[in-house]
Amino acid sequence: MENLHDKRKVYEISQLLENQIKTNPMEQFRDWFLAAQEHPMISEANAMSVSTMESDGCPRTRMVLLKSYDWNGFVFYTNYESRKGKAIEDTHKVCLHFFWPPLERQIIIKATVERTAENISDGYFHSRPFGSQLGAKVSPQSQVIPNREFLENKLNEMTIEFEGKEVPRPENWGGYLATPYEIEFWQGRPNRLHDRILYELQEDWDWRISRLAP
Ligand SMILES: Cc1cc2nc3c(=O)[nH]c(=O)nc-3n(C[C@H](O)[C@H](O)[C@H](O)COP(=O)(O)O)c2cc1C
Repeated sequence: MENLHDKRKVYEISQLLENQIKTNPMEQFRDWFLAAQEHPMISEANAMSVSTMESDGCPRTRMVLLKSYDWNGFVFYTNYESRKGKAIEDTHKVCLHFFWPPLERQIIIKATVERTAENISDGYFHSRPFGSQLGAKVSPQSQVIPNREFLENKLNEMTIEFEGKEVPRPENWGGYLATPYEIEFWQGRPNRLHDRILYELQEDWDWRISRLAP
């Protein structure tokens, strides 16, 4: 077994103080997201983990790509019949998480979730490369399949079938809009005295801002 007790990094490149932050967390998200996108050492700033609650009471987490965000929230695309899709249809809740090590920042978002409108899913589906469109059609995401050839054979068949034609978006594939009701911004600081700023949505739609102990 490997002992990692002495593996620790000093976080010291930035800070997050009340007099610097935006009053709306989506604006704060935008500032941090743009910084992450511009950072040369961050190759997929829009990769985020999505946790869902499963029926055995245990959360399950996987990465997905954030494909858009605005005042309403965060949009990602997936298979509605996948394991995450089933959990979302059941609970309508997710926890999203970004970690950008070169910036020493993480963001934790709790959100309610709904499917995006069909025209939004259609628009995004048809903007994807032909191979990715077919990939979404071919893959019964999260189901057990006999072997890799199962996918490759289906892909070959569909490549011939849809050559030169528009691929219809599978009904079980589309977007989810995650509308946040809680967002925490975490900035690493020296001596483990990190900055944690929490935004919580209030009944009057204002955001309450608090500082949490690290
Ligand atoms: C960086 C990265 C990005 C990913 N983006 C997506 C995505 O946008 N949509 C998606 O359905 N799966 C995406 N995946 C695959 C998921 O992590 C996961 O394997 C898949 O969605 C099935 O998850 P589930 O069985 O929990 O539903 C991505 C994986 C990685 C590592």
